[in-house]
Amino acid sequence: MRITPSILNADLAGLSSEINRIGDADAIHVDVMDNHFVPNLAFGLPMVEAIRRSTDKMLDIHLMINDPDRWAPAYAEAGAESVTFHVEAANGPIRLARELRRLGARAAIGLKPATAIDGFADMLNEVDMVLLMTVEPGFGGQEFLELVIPKIRRTRELLGTRPIWLQVDGGVSAKTIERCAEAGADTFVAGSAVFSADDPNAMVRELRARASSQCSHSKFVAS
Ligand code: DX5
Ligand code: ZN
Repeated sequence: MRITPSILNADLAGLSSEINRIGDADAIHVDVMDNHFVPNLAFGLPMVEAIRRSTDKMLDIHLMINDPDRWAPAYAEAGAESVTFHVEAANGPIRLARELRRLGARAAIGLKPATAIDGFADMLNEVDMVLLMTVEPGFGGQEFLELVIPKIRRTRELLGTRPIWLQVDGGVSAKTIERCAEAGADTFVAGSAVFSADDPNAMVRELRARASSQCSHSKFVAS
């Protein structure tokens, strides 16, 4: 069970110290937005390069941008360990996933809440992670969409015990994380839940404990 806090709603004026407040996190989730794929603008390559210089933690880049075929490889070249692009935006998802892996990154596909996983079942071996959005992408602090739970379950069925991570992103908190874990998620983005907590690192540990408590109840346990 991995907790990957999103820094979207962190105090951006003191980002290094914010990252230091989540020492127990498994990775830093960085949301890149282009104001086209989503109605918001956030971060970009120079920011990711700066974050790379300031931490050894795994960087989990979530590209909410059009034309990831063109822009995604630079994030792998910048040293990000994981790069997620959206299937709704990619022209050649298999080619792009292979390119990211060739550059040494984990390749991941992201799906908006209304996008079904079934059409991508045949390419799952090309990726290292599937990110299921549990809010419409674009903003932190939105309410978790329960309607995605059956898709988490369906994706876990398709993945089985393959070592492909299943990440959920949006509205994940102490209230919702157990349902996600029970349905088969094993990697959890949490933005406002972590950074609005008095002790963000304690919240990281609490979220991991809550997710882990569902592990034995889950039909499939990811390796
Ligand atoms: C939303 C981003 C998320 C967001 C999560 O489009 O992809 O990573 O920052 O924030 P919370 O946990 O507050 O929903
Ligand atoms: Zn995200």
